[in-house]
Amino acid sequence: MHKGSGYFITLEGCEGSGKSTQLKMLCAYLEEKGIDAVYTREPGGTVISEKIRSIILDNENKIMSDEAEALLYAASRIQNVKEKILPALESGKTVICDRYVDSSFAYQAYARGLGYDFIYNINEFAIKTCMPDMTLFFDISPERAFERKGGVDTGDRIELSGLDFHKSVYNGYNKLAEKFSDRIVRIDATKSKAEIFANVKANLNRLGIV
Ligand code: TMP
Repeated sequence: MHKGSGYFITLEGCEGSGKSTQLKMLCAYLEEKGIDAVYTREPGGTVISEKIRSIILDNENKIMSDEAEALLYAASRIQNVKEKILPALESGKTVICDRYVDSSFAYQAYARGLGYDFIYNINEFAIKTCMPDMTLFFDISPERAFERKGGVDTGDRIELSGLDFHKSVYNGYNKLAEKFSDRIVRIDATKSKAEIFANVKANLNRLGIV
């Protein structure tokens, strides 16, 4: 749901879902196929949005309120949409975005408990003009992802939020995948890298990108 002629694809999942590895494989594959694609991430993707990212993820900002956090993610997003994503889609490019509004629904609406409506409302600028054509949800529970990582719990302010928080994020993603089953594609992220990527490619194929 956007006015561009390009395809807008977003990647979602819990921490340690292997999303970043798949993103790298996807970038290399699209380049090899000669597809004109733009890659971006959230929070971030533009100079202003990357500055907002560093405020959000800074471990020093432990007292940040849940509402301020949600608004900062929304601010980063609308800048990325207006400055980068929509212009690229309008010029017919494929846009691949590492996380988008579903992250705000899973993390802020469900896990932080701010509710779907609040997150919808503060993201309306982005949602109204720019929704993904397809969202790939890398489905692995936080427990499995944690095990795979070797159990090391280090990272930024959100990564350090604890297992219960990440379990709620995962439940949030599962609810979203049911609610938006026409847009969100579940990718079994417990499989091998090659099997996961084959599934990613099959879905891009289905959409007609490659
Ligand atoms: P990343 O580690 O995938 O770059 O994402 C940064 C962190 O921000 C990650 O823990 C997920 C979190 N996040 C939210 O809580 N809400 C959002 O809207 C987005 C985009 C990310």
